Amino acid sequence: MPAQISGATCVALDPETTRRAAQEFRRFGILRVTNLLNPETTSLVRAETNRLLEQHSERRDLRLATTDFTRRSMSVVPSEKVAAHSDAISMLYQDADLLAMLEAIAGEKLHPCPKKDEEFLITRHERKGDTHGWHWGDFSYALIWVPEAPPIEVGGLLQCIAHTSWNKADPKINQYIVENPITTYYFASGDAYLLRTDTTLHRTIPFREDAVRVILNMTWAAARDLRRTYTTDDRWWDNADATAAVSVRGDVNQGKNDD
Ligand SMILES: [Fe+2]
Repeated sequence: MPAQISGATCVALDPETTRRAAQEFRRFGILRVTNLLNPETTSLVRAETNRLLEQHSERRDLRLATTDFTRRSMSVVPSEKVAAHSDAISMLYQDADLLAMLEAIAGEKLHPCPKKDEEFLITRHERKGDTHGWHWGDFSYALIWVPEAPPIEVGGLLQCIAHTSWNKADPKINQYIVENPITTYYFASGDAYLLRTDTTLHRTIPFREDAVRVILNMTWAAARDLRRTYTTDDRWWDNADATAAVSVRGDVNQGKNDD
């Protein structure tokens, strides 16, 4: 177990930096926050994420009905395993300085995720064709740490369409892609970004070859999220046999790695 963080987890923001960060986040639905974090915090996340992947990773290869059958092909460490086996990540999730910074950017209070199976998710893209296909999140905010990323040419780039909304019964993903500009981001090893997950349609570009891209996702809810009910069984990260999931393991083994 690595040492705990000795100082603050993140930097203190002045009012003008906060205003600009909040405005950029509101406009694009995403904000790189790498420079706002203590490098010691980033190192701790990297060590813990790699340890958890070594000990608890599970492979997923499926398509999800609630996102028009876009693909999920990667290894994961589900939320409960992260919470149970990393005190450091659990403490960071509740860190007052980190939350204050994120709330200043978001412009509202961040609440702990009401679903224990969605607080955390570690994913590792590792094989040619691996992708986290187009999707939204159930809750408003995610802080994504990127401990490891391949060179830009390999893929795994994040693509976003901000200010959209998720109708699980009729997602219309291709309509959104056709009707809106898509912004593409490269995040290198050690980067982190805040994402407005419920209204930013996003995906990773499939790998063109075997490589490694690791992320840790921390999810928080806005007050409005706490008033909603979540009934659809599409929690593929928690259970590969979720009702909305269709296995594509056979396709993957035969090299059919299209989107
Ligand atoms: Fe996502």
